[in-house]
Amino acid sequence: MLPQARPQKLVVLTGAGMSAESGIETFRGAGGLWEGHRVEDVATPEAWSRNPDMVLRFYNERRRKLLAVEPNPGHRILAKWEKRMDVQIITQNVDDLHERAGSQRVLHLHGELMKSRSCGPKEHVMTMSDWEMKRTDRCPDGYPLRPHIVWFGESVPFMVHAFPIVEQADCVIVIGTSLQVYPAAQLAFEAGPGVPVILIDPNAEELAVPGARLLSMTASEGLEALDAHWFGA
Ligand code: OAD
Repeated sequence: MLPQARPQKLVVLTGAGMSAESGIETFRGAGGLWEGHRVEDVATPEAWSRNPDMVLRFYNERRRKLLAVEPNPGHRILAKWEKRMDVQIITQNVDDLHERAGSQRVLHLHGELMKSRSCGPKEHVMTMSDWEMKRTDRCPDGYPLRPHIVWFGESVPFMVHAFPIVEQADCVIVIGTSLQVYPAAQLAFEAGPGVPVILIDPNAEELAVPGARLLSMTASEGLEALDAHWFGA
């Protein structure tokens, strides 16, 4: 049973499945991004020290692909809801498809593909206008740049903001995440007592979130169903 009343404070947790219908690969499962790569070769600080060219190639390629795709109807529904109610998105995704659909309240736990960050002592974060990051690129202080991505083994600085946001929600929707990567996955279990949690994922039955209502559908299908339920669209 879906919650009848429209939420007052909706929190939406999104993972790679949110962007699958836009044509971006998920990470796990058949044909997933990690199937073609060893995580430790491309998504760790050690990989960056050992072979920065390989890391840059990996993220350049992902950026190039991102620039070639568009937000899907699911992204657009979330952006539309933000105009009608209090919606906060917390995403594990590094793409900018929520923003390109029009969502403004998006917390990126794992960084942002279209940003670069200084390797120097100051926290310079810069928005990129194109897909290519080069070894010779420098921050304003002359230090090398790295992708603005939280790699495996690094801390997730926005978790401290994310926990209270989820705890204050009166409805939580979890979309397209296998809930295998911590600490981000922990958020799916942090809703307050009695607060409805809705899982939208073709494999929703496999995700063990106690008491969650399951919509075993794609992100767009699930959000269209909820949109019709709450707004009669
Ligand atoms: P995963 O690839 O682990 O999980 C994707 C989820 O999306 C699975 O549960 C799929 O069933 C589901 N899915 C597939 N197609 C879908 C669709 N059309 N609509 C809705 N759901 C769909 O991705 P994440 O859980 O997001 O971190 O991965 C978490 C983190 O692991 C990523 O942020 C990344 C990765 O390693 C870093 O790189 C730090």
